[in-house]
Parts: sequence; structure tokens; C-alpha cells
Amino acid sequence: MVLSRTLKVSIKKLSSKGFGVFEKITPHKNTTEIELFNALPGEKISVEEFSKNKKNLYVIKEWLKVSQGRQDPPCPYFGRCGGCQTLHMSDDMEAAFKRQKVIDALHSFGVRFLTVSPVQTYGQRERRRFRFEVLRHNNRIIFGLRRFHSNQLIDLESCYVADQSISDLLIPIKIFLTENTQEGFKASVSVLKVENGLDLDVQTIKDAKGLCANEKQTLDFMKRNGVTRLTYQEKSFVLQDPFILIDGLKVYIHQDAFMQASYPSEKAMQSIVASFLPTEKRPLMIADLYCGLGTFLIPLSRCHRVHGYESNIDAVRSLRGALSRGEVTSSKVEARDLKESPLSQSELLQYNCIVINPPRVGVAYDQLIQIGKSDVERIIYVSCNPDTFARDCMILDKFGYSPMEIIPIDQFYGSYHIEIVAVLVRS
Ligand SMILES: C[S@@+](CC[C@H](N)C(=O)[O-])C[C@H]1O[C@@H](n2cnc3c(N)ncnc32)[C@H](O)[C@@H]1O
Repeated sequence: MVLSRTLKVSIKKLSSKGFGVFEKITPHKNTTEIELFNALPGEKISVEEFSKNKKNLYVIKEWLKVSQGRQDPPCPYFGRCGGCQTLHMSDDMEAAFKRQKVIDALHSFGVRFLTVSPVQTYGQRERRRFRFEVLRHNNRIIFGLRRFHSNQLIDLESCYVADQSISDLLIPIKIFLTENTQEGFKASVSVLKVENGLDLDVQTIKDAKGLCANEKQTLDFMKRNGVTRLTYQEKSFVLQDPFILIDGLKVYIHQDAFMQASYPSEKAMQSIVASFLPTEKRPLMIADLYCGLGTFLIPLSRCHRVHGYESNIDAVRSLRGALSRGEVTSSKVEARDLKESPLSQSELLQYNCIVINPPRVGVAYDQLIQIGKSDVERIIYVSCNPDTFARDCMILDKFGYSPMEIIPIDQFYGSYHIEIVAVLVRS
């Protein structure tokens, strides 16, 4: 890396990933926008420009003017670990940034909307699902997350935004892996905080060397550290079957199951979804598309008839089991891939309202078109991706649906991500 020059730059705005953006004049006298990690709007910064492989890299040398929205990042790994990008922002600045992200996405897809509500933040240090990576190199276990935009794995001994029980596991798991692996071990480790402890899923990467703990060593580690199940490749060691409570109903979970990022944010979203239901005609007939383990289906089933649709067969089994144990007969769940086999316009005729909570890629296009053509008056859309949410709103707009209320829920404190709960009504 060669230092080419030092620049004084002014940060104009934040990028959608929370980086400061400054303008640079190119040799052809055009301006180009450069993103700088850990820089905030209004700041003036002295930046060193390095060139490497015909690319320029920018490193902050010193702050000449500091934003009032800056705070000391509360995590010692901030800036190295790629898990968080916004811990240098005050809470107010982080909330404003995330609200603006939603507004910018809607504008960029030309969606008409009245307003976006202020961000509601829940579970700031209670993130309950993580996927870590681990490798053994030079006889040392490196366990953590990658640096942002890099393959470098950053070794963590705690995590500021994780639920305390997950953060507390990091040192014991490193000791366990140090004692029970060989040089060349490389794996991904999913950790879920469930009602009765922690659920771990360890999968070695390709041809990497594996875990060599025997049953006794594994069970001892689990008992000492509140791990209720540890799955390694295909084999599970189980002290108690892991479960979560959704609106008081026990739902046993499959390994690496999808759960909303924190328990408090899940509760808040369930209330908002319920408040968005149509007020007339009760009980309602509701379709819950991409229903997962029943985060919305279960509480809605208390007063309404809900049909859930979900492609993950393990999630469908877990949810069916929970409904049957809870003697919930008003609702049911169907294993169905909504991309391959969307619910048709005529199938949707029976519903008063649709709840949708798709993965980051948004609603499958053909499914969206069927919803657009349907007679359903109200769609409650829960999304973890403002861009695909906005794109889907743009498509639904052609069928007369407009977002009446859009509430950003910050369940990803410290990162640039934001969840949205919105209600779209046919005008
Ligand atoms: C964001 S999660 C939401 C789950 C649930 N609503 C919740 O809050 O826990 C998205 C869900 O969509 C499911 N899914 C992904 N692609 C799907 C498809 N093509 N058809 C049906 N379900 C799908 C995933 O398995 C996952 O459970």
C-alpha cells in the first residue's frame, strides 16, 4: 500500500450502510462519492489516500471538526468487527439515520406515502441470534465475525449487542474448541438464545478438519454453559429440546431456526401487526405468508382464523406441533413454496387481510402479482429490507395499494439494518 496524499474532506451525508460520504474531484475534474467508515455528516476530517492494486483506500488521520451526534463507541471491537457499523452514533442520530434510510428507499422506487413514523428501538443489547465463524490457525482458535467488506476474521471475547448469555459463551466455547480441534479446523457456528438455554449448530466448512470432542466432553461443556442442544454436522447432543415461547405457546425449534432478532422487538411487532388489522367483521380470516414458526400466526389465532404458509418444512412441523399442543384449532399451516407455487388470486378470496413477512429478497414476484389482483383490502407487511419493501410497494401501488402507516422498528441496534412494519390499504 502506497501513501499518495493527505486530503481534508467534509462529510456530506451517510450512505445506506452508515458510512460517511465525501466528494472527491477526479483527475478528469468530475466528482465522485467516497464512503468512509466511522465518519459522520458535518465532520471535517484529514484523510490519507493510499493506493493498492490500482484502487484507492482512505484512512482517517484526524478529525478536524467532530459531529455533535458522535459518541464513544461502547464496544472495544467497534471498527474492526464487521457486526456493527453505527455504535459511534448517538441513539438519536442512529434513529434518524435509519428512518431516513426507509424514506430514501421509498423515494428511490417512487412510492407515494404520507409519512414514516419515528423509529422505535427495542432490545438494544438483547440480540438473540448470531452466526459466528471459527478457525484454528497457528494452534490458536479465532472465533468471531468478519471485518466489514473483508475476509479477515476478528477474534471476539464478548459482544456488546448480543444477549448476555451469548456474549458470556464466547470465552468458554473458545476453550472448548482449543481443547477439541486440530490445526485446520474451520466452521460456522449458529447460536440461538432460546427459552431453556442456548442452541448451537456447528458446521465445518467444506473439507476443513472437524471437531474431535467425545460425547462426555461435549455434554460437560453443554452443562457448564447452559447449552441445551449442540448439533455438530448431522448429530445432535440434547440435554433438553430447545423451545421458544410465542405468546405463551411453547414452540420447539429446529436447528438454525429463524427467529426475530430480539424478544422485546418481536413482542412490539406482534402488537403493531394486531393494531393494523381491519376493525370490522370479527373473527377475521387472515393469510400469514412466510409465517415461519408462527411469530404472528400464534397471537393472531387467539381472536381470528389464520392460515400460515411457509416453505421450511421443519418450521411447519414445529408450528403444527405447537398449535396442536395448545389446542388451537382455528388456524392451520401449509408447507408451501410461495415462489414455486404462489397463492392464487382465487385462493386469496377467502381472506380479509394478509400478513407478509418475507426474507430479505422480498415477496416472490408472482406471489405479489396474485396479491395485487386479489380482493384483499389490507396488507400488513413486515420487512427487514427497506429496498425490497419499497420495490414491492411500488408494484402493489399499480394495483391501488398505498402504505397508510410505516413504522421502522430498530431491532438491530449497532448495525445499519432496520425492520419495518407497515399497513397497505387499497384505495
Ligand atoms: C423473515 S422470516 C419470517 C418468519 C416469521 N414470519 C417470523 O416472524 O418469525 C421469512 C420466512 O420465509 C420463509 N421463506 C423463504 N422463502 C420462502 C418461499 N419461497 N416460500 C415460503 N416461505 C419462504 C423462511 O423459511 C422464513 O421462515
